[in-house]
Amino acid sequence: MDISTYRADFPILQQAIKDKPLIYLDNAATTQKPQVVIDALVHYYTHANANVHRGVHALSERATHAYENARTTVKNFINAAHTEEIVFVRGTTEAINLVAQSYGRSHLQAGDEILLTELEHHANIVPWQLVCEQTGAKLRVIPINEAGEINLDDVIALINKRTKLLAVGHISNAIGTINPVEDMIKIAHANQVPVLVDGAQAAPHMPIDVQALDCDFYTLSGHKVFGPTGIGALYAKAQWLEKLPPYQGGGDMISSVSFEKSSYNRPPFKFEAGTPNIAGAIGFATALDYLTKVGVANTQAYEQELLAYATQALSEIPGLRIIGTAEHKASIISFVLDKIHPHDIGTILDSKGIAIRAGHHCAMPLMQHFKVSATARASLAFYNTRQEIDCLIRALYEVKEVFG
Ligand code: ALA
Repeated sequence: MDISTYRADFPILQQAIKDKPLIYLDNAATTQKPQVVIDALVHYYTHANANVHRGVHALSERATHAYENARTTVKNFINAAHTEEIVFVRGTTEAINLVAQSYGRSHLQAGDEILLTELEHHANIVPWQLVCEQTGAKLRVIPINEAGEINLDDVIALINKRTKLLAVGHISNAIGTINPVEDMIKIAHANQVPVLVDGAQAAPHMPIDVQALDCDFYTLSGHKVFGPTGIGALYAKAQWLEKLPPYQGGGDMISSVSFEKSSYNRPPFKFEAGTPNIAGAIGFATALDYLTKVGVANTQAYEQELLAYATQALSEIPGLRIIGTAEHKASIISFVLDKIHPHDIGTILDSKGIAIRAGHHCAMPLMQHFKVSATARASLAFYNTRQEIDCLIRALYEVKEVFG
């Protein structure tokens, strides 16, 4: 894969930070945007801006057409069976809150259980805690081993008649573990338990096929996959969207309103109250088209090589410990350096133009598992290079020198 040709598509990567060429290794936090996505946003606001599903005028039709085409692009990207199964939301966080409130409040009772894993991002913990407080349900947590992997025997052991949903991240944002979601879904379904998969970190790293997975819900964030912030999608099987109640009320989600009673629009509109992020949806779809053109299987293979290269080089640094050594990992590497706080690592790297994330990565229970308060995290995208990894490694040796 000739990466340099794609790298040129990302204008932000061409700049210097602190007088050094930018090395952007914080892709799990958010990815950079190719020029086509930036152009799509400008084009929409220059030529098509209007509200969707409301006007009879030309611009409204243009905006509606582009917005609904974007929905079809998302459907194709994850191989959903129907376009109506795609609900536009602000991102994975809103998608999970939608399911927690809509499914949770209509299906959970005191004593029921929601099954999560120790790897989850706060966005796949706190929405469930909120609905547990509202309904009297409780959380059960699938443990991980020291590599940061789930054991399927634990899934089998923890599922029982009170389990009402399994919610699991496809890929851990903090340590990169790729979870065996296919097997987990089979186990859950054998016990009549529906499954939500948080796909925020998976979509940029691997092909997604929701029909092959057979998950009930799948969530995406546009900005993790080279699209704009503030837009994402919830996939839900059609039969769920038919029977679940709305999450928010407002314009566009109704078919009629009176002070006595309102009735609701058909899915997916039932779940899209208010004016949506139209430009965001178009930018999101443009990003998915771009990634499809590059080829997710190509980027996946390239990133796996980069991951192996970086893991090997990092492991050779004395005093450096990689947190999360799962057999199946995406290109996300968390690490700690003896006696040096991750924030100090991040600050010194920043002075050399290298962007990483330092902190708990919105996964405090996972940090507790590994008995650390924070890690330094380098998360790689397909526009990163071996030369950038070499710079990171050299810079980490310099960090060690600073702290003697
Ligand atoms: N979830 C994002 C991250 O992992 C913000 O950095």
